[in-house]
Amino acid sequence: MEVVTSKEQLRSWLDKHPHAKKVLAPTMGALHRGHTSLFDLAREKAGDDVAMASIFVNPTQFGPNEDFGSYPRQLEADLELCEKHGIDLVFAPPAGEVYAENASISIHEKSLSTGLCGGKRPGHFDGVCTVVAKLFHLFRADAAVFGEKDFQQLAVIRRMVRDLDFEVEIVPGPTVREEDGLAMSSRNAYLSEAEREQAPILFQTLTDVAKGISSGRLSSPEEAVEHLRQKIESAPLARIDYAEIVNSDTLEPLDKFGIGEPRLLVAVFFGKTRLIDNVGLPSS
Ligand code: PAJ
Repeated sequence: MEVVTSKEQLRSWLDKHPHAKKVLAPTMGALHRGHTSLFDLAREKAGDDVAMASIFVNPTQFGPNEDFGSYPRQLEADLELCEKHGIDLVFAPPAGEVYAENASISIHEKSLSTGLCGGKRPGHFDGVCTVVAKLFHLFRADAAVFGEKDFQQLAVIRRMVRDLDFEVEIVPGPTVREEDGLAMSSRNAYLSEAEREQAPILFQTLTDVAKGISSGRLSSPEEAVEHLRQKIESAPLARIDYAEIVNSDTLEPLDKFGIGEPRLLVAVFFGKTRLIDNVGLPSS
């Protein structure tokens, strides 16, 4: 495995592999099994060609009062995981390497990113689109893997690829969970012991709502979201940021079941830590 830290080194490495199929897994590091499942997917997708990862805490996707400064950074341990999961090339640039000092262009997606996390974190998806577009160019990626854990991000990136004619195949990976159902996230490390104990309520509730819809007990999105609110808020440390059932293609709120594929997305605060999760729901 080769580790490069500058764009110049990245270019020289890629120049040596002009005909290889190149599959990228972009990350912000603090790697866990969610990330390594994407490395495995990238490895599989690349076959005998090139599986690549980036480790870069992207400043432009953090709001002014968010956790950019305190986001966990553990490069040595991360590189070991990359190697163990068959990554051939890692780009781990220092903070100043990626953006020009007076960079003045960014990519703005104006439909899918207005609600949900985008509504709560203004500018977040501009930062994500801009850095992902840069990474696609820098790595000359043929395909890239993204987790369904960040469902809105996946949808926004697919839209960017479609609308800006990137020749990059987007490959989704399923959400990887702890044994008690909590979706793996670098931010889980922020949870206190008491918060961590209550956090599994998120996925328990998502599963419960999906079952309630299958059995006919919950017959409308409104009823389902109300049930979810009551159940999640029964955990004393949980505070819902948003909970919505949307059409999984357009991310527009659904007012009844039976049309399109519904997806339930939630963001919940435990203290200062904001966790997100989502599940697909039965379509009728
Ligand atoms: P990060 O949060 O590090 O996540 C990197 C990739 O891992 C994303 O595609 C994310 O969806 C996926 N991932 C995270 N937790 C997961 C889990 N439990 N199961 C499956 N996949 C999981 O997402 C970002 O970084 C950034 O926004 C990035 C795309 C790198 C741009 O800066």
